[in-house]
Amino acid sequence: MDQTRTPYFDVLLDYVDSGVIPFHTPGHMQGRGMDRSLRDFLGDNVLAIDLTQIRGLDDLLQPEEAIEEAQQLAAEAYGADNSFFLINGSTSGNQIMMMAALNPGEKIALPRNSHKSAMGGLIMSGVAPVWMKPEVDVGLHMDHTVTPQTVRATLDEHPDVRAVYVVSPTYYGATADLEGIAAVVHERDLPLLVDEAWGPHFRFHPALPIDAIAAGADLSINSTHKMLGSLSQTAMLHHKGERIRVDRLKSVVKLFLSTSPNLVLVASLDVARKQMATEGAALLSRTIELANDTRRRLNEIPGIYCFGDDQVGRPGVFDLDPTKITITVKALGYTGYEAEEILRRRYNVQCELADLFNCLALFTIGTTQDAADRLVYGVKELSREDRPIDVFSPSGVLERRLETGTYNLPSIPPMRMNPREAFLADTEIVRFKESPGRICAEVITPYPPGIPVISPGEEITPEIVAYLDLEKKAGVRIQGPYDSELRSIRVVR
Ligand SMILES: Cc1ncc(COP(=O)(O)O)c(C=O)c1O
Repeated sequence: MDQTRTPYFDVLLDYVDSGVIPFHTPGHMQGRGMDRSLRDFLGDNVLAIDLTQIRGLDDLLQPEEAIEEAQQLAAEAYGADNSFFLINGSTSGNQIMMMAALNPGEKIALPRNSHKSAMGGLIMSGVAPVWMKPEVDVGLHMDHTVTPQTVRATLDEHPDVRAVYVVSPTYYGATADLEGIAAVVHERDLPLLVDEAWGPHFRFHPALPIDAIAAGADLSINSTHKMLGSLSQTAMLHHKGERIRVDRLKSVVKLFLSTSPNLVLVASLDVARKQMATEGAALLSRTIELANDTRRRLNEIPGIYCFGDDQVGRPGVFDLDPTKITITVKALGYTGYEAEEILRRRYNVQCELADLFNCLALFTIGTTQDAADRLVYGVKELSREDRPIDVFSPSGVLERRLETGTYNLPSIPPMRMNPREAFLADTEIVRFKESPGRICAEVITPYPPGIPVISPGEEITPEIVAYLDLEKKAGVRIQGPYDSELRSIRVVR
């Protein structure tokens, strides 16, 4: 196919050029009805192609014309049999993968550190989780991926598992041995689903880790918006092989799409694919070079450590995406949260995320040399600063926790109900301290390491309550509960 083409973007441009008089949604009528303040800021061009799926503009739910061609071009570029454009991120991708691959009540093996949208997938599909423990690096305070050995042991122990799901790469760029995992999974003729939200660029450069479809995944998802040039919310779902039925997959995709998709988003996927297919290797070469050079410069700063190839080969780090730079500030005596705040407040540099020991800087095809220099400057200054007084500092509890290595998570509690049943059950709110013995109805995840300590359907144990209490006192951010202070918790009535 001709990868220089952008069939969907072209169709929208043709519509604008033809000067059609609109009597259709969206109600702003190509900007005419929009408040001036927003209209002037967005500009006429964006609004002119914010159209609905009228004749000639194809239908994302039933693509037959330009969207179909755009998706086929994407499939070719990604080495898939079928690719689907998603406009609700990899969040919907995770939900779609589970609903397409399994029936309610069937079991899926998945890592405990899966993104929360995987829990959404479990709840929507009614599929039962068999949790796998990811490898954890206590020194860096971060979780990595699951190994083929863990996958094999899980399948040996649970022969009734019907699909395996893995996250690769992690937020920090560590990838799993996907070929090794695919071999284990396919030995049993099970489908492998890969959350590759952070790897939409892998396919387009030989220095990047192997992409999921090339490694043997049956389904994979990419958050195109995270690392490439498309707009927020855009993602792609890729499918290959015979293990997943494509008719069912298409029906499930439709369930998750609005009947009024934002066509600007759809066009941005079409154009991002063209950009990668035609110039990706050159653009990414520049990005990788810039990231590697910046990592080297940062590593020269006293007290700063940015891991790189030295981590490859460690448990759960089969390969590494060099475009992610994890800046470990531990030796400076700062938490990652403090460093992130100082970098933003004093040097106007905003990182992608911070955790206890690290700040994560994302390098993409949009990162400039000037931006990289600003980051290096900010971190250099940070290393010279006296400890700050205007940002929070870690409590004694936190330091004790780190010293004593209580990073090790409590054991996964017994599952009493399927996550969907627990989530949808009649619930009540009880005091957290009095919750042991009750069945949890929500997901509770301290960051870091971002691994749910308890999730819907699991029994709350005294060990869990004690652990989460410690995390709270340490000032660790706890995501997921209805009561963000975790003084109370939603349980099954
Ligand atoms: C591993 C992983 N999967 C899925 C998602 C959801 O992606 P999106 O934000 O595109 O919906 C994220 C978001 O950060 C993620 O980190």
